[in-house]
Amino acid sequence: MATREHQQRHPQKTTSSFSSSRLFIFLLCLGTLFLGFSLFKTSPREQRLQPEQKTETTSSETNGGASTTNSNSACDYSDGRWIYDPKADKSLRYDQTCKEIFKGWNCIGSNKFNAFEVVKWRWKPYHCELPQFDPLLFLKRFANANIGFVGDSLNRNMFVSLFCTLRRTSTEVKKWRPAGADRGFTFLNYNLTISYHRTNLLARYGRWSANTNGGLLESLGYKEGYRIDVDIPEGTWEEALSFHDILIFNTGHWWWAPAKFDPVRSPMLFFQKGTPVMPPVTPDVGLDMVLKNMIPLVQKRIQPGATLFFRTQSPRHFEGGDWDQGGSCQRSQPLSPQEVKEFFSVKKNGTNVEGRLVNEHLYNALKGSDFHILDITHMSEYRADAHPSTAGGKKHDDCMHWCLPGITDTWNDLFVERLNNMKSRS
Ligand SMILES: *[C@@H]1O[C@H](CO)[C@@H](O)[C@H](O)[C@H]1NC(C)=O
Ligand SMILES: *[C@@H]1O[C@H](CO)[C@@H](O)[C@H](O)[C@H]1NC(C)=O
Repeated sequence: MATREHQQRHPQKTTSSFSSSRLFIFLLCLGTLFLGFSLFKTSPREQRLQPEQKTETTSSETNGGASTTNSNSACDYSDGRWIYDPKADKSLRYDQTCKEIFKGWNCIGSNKFNAFEVVKWRWKPYHCELPQFDPLLFLKRFANANIGFVGDSLNRNMFVSLFCTLRRTSTEVKKWRPAGADRGFTFLNYNLTISYHRTNLLARYGRWSANTNGGLLESLGYKEGYRIDVDIPEGTWEEALSFHDILIFNTGHWWWAPAKFDPVRSPMLFFQKGTPVMPPVTPDVGLDMVLKNMIPLVQKRIQPGATLFFRTQSPRHFEGGDWDQGGSCQRSQPLSPQEVKEFFSVKKNGTNVEGRLVNEHLYNALKGSDFHILDITHMSEYRADAHPSTAGGKKHDDCMHWCLPGITDTWNDLFVERLNNMKSRS
């Protein structure tokens, strides 16, 4: 699972309800202002980035109608294939010595049989290029900026990839915990800060047990569970909103994690405005409620001009059972398009169907929002070869996180490419 620890929750300030029409007018004014004045601005803080690509398609089956075009900003980066480059491991962006790599993800360090093969595959979108990003240019361009990853351990996996890549170029680094982050670093020569804010569900949650004086849930027979406040952000990332210039969110695996949120013994119990949602709803409905509350809350609380990304779901590749049923991922090569189709078909409801199911919820909730969607799902679906597997050193195969170096490096290429496209258009 993404991470097993359970943290103590602290009481949060509740937020005043906000008027979406006022926000709209505010954004409109802001947009107009920046359209007028941002032409030659260089600081990310002062930029109003252009919303684009908000209607990307969910997956494979579609091409996004992208015809061959020179405009990368219109390209569907998720529509492509992995190309083998036998020499690619000679120019690793970073290696197993990057200390930030969690032991279980260090496939080179753990001698995973194909650790060097993993990085020999390059993602090639059919209708454009996705170049490996240049860390020096990145450091210069985002000097004086703050970039935050908010989400579960899969977002940490992406954060570590970015850190290790930049660290190779710029070694003067201060390690600290900005804005309540789980971990963070400032690249001192550029005053660029990146941090990871851990949150599994985005919303605040904690253990719940029946009150002896009774209550709504007690009257329905609930004894134990987790209380999830759909309208309260988890404290780990609340401060991140007023700190960062660029934020990358994710949530997903924990909503389909019966090992922790056992539907019978420790179910998810949703609360809104401090009282239980009645009748109780299932986790997928709870996810919708959380997204519906958190998306406007984030949009309201970020700094003017900040850029928001939501990363789509990272696919898992358990074969022969789920993670706790002996499932494994022993492949040495990416899946074929036909295999991807079968693995992830929602209709077939296989072991790893979660990925596309989560995305359906995300795309619905993000429609019309200020978030840019970072669609990494389909490209990652091919990479059954790129998980730590037994090299993760746990009792179970890890077919959920990714080897580092590995494909979250490509996620960062996509992230940077999207940022660059926005900048050149402003
Ligand atoms: C570093 O960047 C932050 C904004 O992210 C800014 O507030 C601060 O003044 C900068 N420090 C220096 C020394 O430029
Ligand atoms: C999908 O499969 C899981 C078990 O593998 C099952 O619990 C669930 O009910 C199935 N869902 C549908 C819609 O068939």
